[in-house]
Amino acid sequence: MRSETAPAIRLEDYQPPLYRIDKVALNVELAPGATRVTATLEVSRQPGTEAGAPLVLDGDELSLAGIKLNGEALAETAYAATADRLELASPPADPFELTLVTELDPDANTKLMGLFRSSATYCTQCEAEGFRRITYFLDRPDVLAVYTTRLEASKKDCPVLLANGNLTETGDIDGTGRHYAVWHDPHPKPAYLFALVAGDLAEVPDTFTTMSGKEVALNIYVEHGKESLCDWAMDSLKRSMRWDEEVFGREYDLDVFNIVAVSDFNMGAMENKGLNIFNDKYVLADPETATDQDYANIEAVIAHEYFHNWTGNRITCRDWFQLCLKEGLTVFRDQEFSSDMRSRAVKRIADVRLLKSHQFPEDAGPLAHPVRPRTYHEINNFYTATVYEKGAEVVRMLQTLLGEQKFRAGLDLYFDRHDGEATTIEAFLSCFEEASSTDLEQFSLWYEQAGTPVVSVETEYDPDRKSFTVSLSQEIPPIAGQKSSKPAVIPLRFGLIGSNGEDMETGSVEGANVAGDVLVLDKAHQDVVFHNVAAAPVLSLLRGFSAPVRLNQPLHSEELLFQAAQDRDPFNRWQAVQTLAMQDLVRLAGLVRDGSEGTPSEDVIGVFASVLGETQLDEALRAQALTLPSEADVAQEIGKDVNPDAIHTARQMLRRAVAARIASSLVPFITDQSAGGTFSPDAQAAGKRALAHRCLHYYAVSGAADATDLVWSRFASADNMTDRLAALTLLVHDHMPREEEALAAYRERHTDSSLAMDKWFMTQATAPGNETLDRVKALMSDPSYDAGNPNRVRSLLQSFATGNPTQFARMDGAGFELIAESVLEIDKRNPQVASRLLTSFRSWRALDPQRSALAESALLRISACENLSRDSRDIVDRTLQ
Ligand code: ARG
Ligand code: ZN
Repeated sequence: MRSETAPAIRLEDYQPPLYRIDKVALNVELAPGATRVTATLEVSRQPGTEAGAPLVLDGDELSLAGIKLNGEALAETAYAATADRLELASPPADPFELTLVTELDPDANTKLMGLFRSSATYCTQCEAEGFRRITYFLDRPDVLAVYTTRLEASKKDCPVLLANGNLTETGDIDGTGRHYAVWHDPHPKPAYLFALVAGDLAEVPDTFTTMSGKEVALNIYVEHGKESLCDWAMDSLKRSMRWDEEVFGREYDLDVFNIVAVSDFNMGAMENKGLNIFNDKYVLADPETATDQDYANIEAVIAHEYFHNWTGNRITCRDWFQLCLKEGLTVFRDQEFSSDMRSRAVKRIADVRLLKSHQFPEDAGPLAHPVRPRTYHEINNFYTATVYEKGAEVVRMLQTLLGEQKFRAGLDLYFDRHDGEATTIEAFLSCFEEASSTDLEQFSLWYEQAGTPVVSVETEYDPDRKSFTVSLSQEIPPIAGQKSSKPAVIPLRFGLIGSNGEDMETGSVEGANVAGDVLVLDKAHQDVVFHNVAAAPVLSLLRGFSAPVRLNQPLHSEELLFQAAQDRDPFNRWQAVQTLAMQDLVRLAGLVRDGSEGTPSEDVIGVFASVLGETQLDEALRAQALTLPSEADVAQEIGKDVNPDAIHTARQMLRRAVAARIASSLVPFITDQSAGGTFSPDAQAAGKRALAHRCLHYYAVSGAADATDLVWSRFASADNMTDRLAALTLLVHDHMPREEEALAAYRERHTDSSLAMDKWFMTQATAPGNETLDRVKALMSDPSYDAGNPNRVRSLLQSFATGNPTQFARMDGAGFELIAESVLEIDKRNPQVASRLLTSFRSWRALDPQRSALAESALLRISACENLSRDSRDIVDRTLQ
């Protein structure tokens, strides 16, 4: 028998809660194995709720150990309690106090939702529905309460006791070895923002003075011995706080801001009010164990969680369908922050790469959903690239359409009007409509329609009339559950490039709204005519990737070569190089698949060779331009009948051809950044390293006599993780001599750093070649493998499934089998980690017939399992639909 599919929750069924809970007092008596939670709730009827209407509270794997109403024990007939529900059949008409006692075993909580232990530390994760695993509650984001939390624990085991808000009281409980702390959070909040932490942790303190002169105590709590790894996170936090004041006028609102780093965590981090809890991977860094990418990620995630204080906490979501209200907006804000801290163009390229590699395939496959979904079975499965990354793109388009000033005015109105509320996308958009006098009804389709619009372009220059006509059309290809679609509002940033490389001036424009360099496409078809265009231009469209669409613009390679060399928009320069490479990779992969001969295009090789010498472009940008589209990107471009082996071979052919062409110019770039000096994680230094690594990546396969020696010596002499890991990856992925020796040396050096060891697992799991599967299996029984640690599972299995296309989709089906078995195994312990791993099958229908049949049978095997979690059941059902 197959496990039941949970009932669908629908946006259209939303009903406001019947009761409100204004105050929550929690007394949490922590003890290994048996923790006792006493929750005292101030409950009252909402206006309009009839007296005596039943009160139904949510629970999840709870057991009720006591219940009182207004201080009096309650008759057993007055309530019904199960593990997932507590119902009071006819509660008092007047406001009342409900006291509930629950008993929990945090040590047995392997789902890492609710109250659990990571190493010895007690901590919580309540978003989306974890609070109901602590006590019975109206666990929905539109029930906002003021929380007072008293924590009590052994003083020796848990010297640190933390909860949301400000600390109001501490003390010892005489003669018991126990102590307590009371925290009060004056800001009403939904239960998903509740948090507590208790443990023996080191404190790294600092302070921040806000724009109105208030001093805020900042603390980062980590395992003892890791204090020195917090400098970058603390620095990022202070810069985030200042930036949000300067750019958005947002000031922090409590006396203290605490961050705790834990090693067992289902996601990246969590924005609990005043007490952010982080996966330690987004806190801990030093040059020895963290790469430049890690530093950038820490900066972004620290900022993201901090920015949630306004976009998420002060103003939260009415229901979980509105998740993008806080996530899309907050991702937009953290992207802007990183752009200001680093190079805007390079950040944009990195974000677009991520969007195209993660969100586009999601939006084209069976897991596609609108930015604001209309229905879900398990909300944890909707913390997706679509809600987050596409959600951020939608906010960015709003800014592009309205202009920075009106966008800021709309956001100010939003903060003003909805502070303290749980609200909706409609309310958010209304603020921008009012502040800018713009009708956003059609724009709101971006929240409603799934799928990536395809924008097709044709151009024609009429030399007699000096007019340039751009014919545009848009369409969303049909996807599961959405056969037709309506035209969206698509802001297209553009330039008409003249033969000298400069953007041309033009006369009047007909057929579209054009403001500055933004043209608005809002119909299915539109002919846009530019008058007074002196000569035939090259149309540079979608500059800065101004909308999350696929552009279908048939440009000749001469035009692309011209754009690659001349476009004044750095994003489109990069894009032109990528498009040239992509066209060639698709062509080569087709030839390889059919068993024909083929050689890479000389033009494409030439473009790559010339990028290296463009010294007026910064190093990070050149490194990005020299990075070929990934195998997954090529697979997506091909779209159907995908053969990952052919793609891999094609990409290696192009890589080798470029390497052979530029071999003689590479060495200075490789040695340039090793000139010495102390390591700095700043964008410029990181850019130099990125370019050096790109050059090493080509040099390794250039055929140069000293190639292996150079890579080995980069590995052996590296004085930072960025250099060491780049060299290790080449040794392992290109199966160079001394590969095994390098892996052993790395392990020896980093045995004590689990974050560094994650990279060791990941490097091996993503190596191409048939032997990788056996290696991954062997690593699963390695003493340092830990199936209970989400980071370790992701570094080995998730990176195999998503970062090793040829081995995951092996022709013998063993890659799919391994992941299917692992999903079933992990699902028993941690459904969220399992269902996330399961999403790696999402593009299975695009594979060639043999491979997709193998994927389907692996999926059917999962689906046939009786006791699948709700999380995995939902993903497997939708993936097979
Ligand atoms: N709100 C958190 C963040 O983006 C993520 C929480 C993810 N929760 C989940 N159940 N997947 O900052
Ligand atoms: Zn977030």
